Amino acid sequence: MTRDSDSMRRDGVRLVEVGPRDGLQNEPAHLSTADKLGFIERLARTGLTDIEVTSFVSPRAVAQLADAERVWAGLPQTPGVRFSALVPNARGLERAVQCGVKRIAVFTAASDRFAQNNIRMTVEQSLRVFESVVRDALAAGMTVRGYVSTAFVCPFEGDVEPRRVRDVATRLLAMGVDEVAISDTVGAASPVDIERAVACLLEEIDIGRIALHLHDTYGTGLANAYAGYRLGVRTFDGSCGGLGGCPFAPGAAGNCATEDLVYLFERMGVATGVHLDKLVNAAGFAASVLGYEPTSRQYRRLAKSPTPP
Ligand code: COA
Ligand code: ZN
Repeated sequence: MTRDSDSMRRDGVRLVEVGPRDGLQNEPAHLSTADKLGFIERLARTGLTDIEVTSFVSPRAVAQLADAERVWAGLPQTPGVRFSALVPNARGLERAVQCGVKRIAVFTAASDRFAQNNIRMTVEQSLRVFESVVRDALAAGMTVRGYVSTAFVCPFEGDVEPRRVRDVATRLLAMGVDEVAISDTVGAASPVDIERAVACLLEEIDIGRIALHLHDTYGTGLANAYAGYRLGVRTFDGSCGGLGGCPFAPGAAGNCATEDLVYLFERMGVATGVHLDKLVNAAGFAASVLGYEPTSRQYRRLAKSPTPP
């Protein structure tokens, strides 16, 4: 499938797999720790370099990920794969430190009502909390990613101004996060929204610091990824099988399926480093434990019975 003649070769992209976290946090079925680890183990053998595996959040907020410690303790030894987890506050950081986590992600939003709904803080309050969380995480030798949720549309406030996104992203980078994941939490953006937001971000932020985290609720996810690529973005989040959504954003569907991103980019001559067949196998495993078929195009095209990783 890869069209890799020299004339077709373009800059590669880095895909950040968020299925075990962003995907599973929204599944009504609570998977066992062993099934989560079965999913993660298959993902870790696909060529993916970054996998967000769980969240050290309040188990009352996200019961699906209440086993974060056990998931972390059971992660496979796969050189070349960087595992990470979400941390919402000092308590989350403490748990992550105890587990020996090396990369965390802090998360706020570009709209107050979503932030309040999600983490019970305004954006400003959350930035103050993250100031010390990021400082302490860096001091503990961790690296940190920062999410800016509702960067295009807020489920409660509607359209979001790109300048607001830029301000929040700039604040996170100033704290020492190494990339900001600009997130279409609702999954409603169009490529024109991506163009406007990225143009505004680039006034103050290096393109290499920007990742796009795109949900696909309205079917614009891949078009948005393509728009981001054309603008120079080289890091994209995906969820194997297109699993998930956000429990705090009513109606939001899962992320762009990682396997659909792999197909899109590889067909464009853009290397992802990820084996499509192995990724579809991981989606098949998730389907078998969740009890339903993923909606991703590549899963439907290639699905077969899951085999050992
Ligand atoms: N891990 C485990 N427990 C935690 C915790 C953490 N990181 N942070 C807080 N708690 C516990 C407290 O110990 C307290 O427990 P208790 O009532 O038994 O004493 C309880 O949660 C409430 O603590 P509080 O500090 O008042 O938190 P809150 O109710 O204001 O909630 C958050 C704030 C951020 C902890 C919570 O909203 C949260 O975890 N949100 C995450 C949402 C998420 O993951 N969204 C998806 C990502 S987009
Ligand atoms: Zn998301």
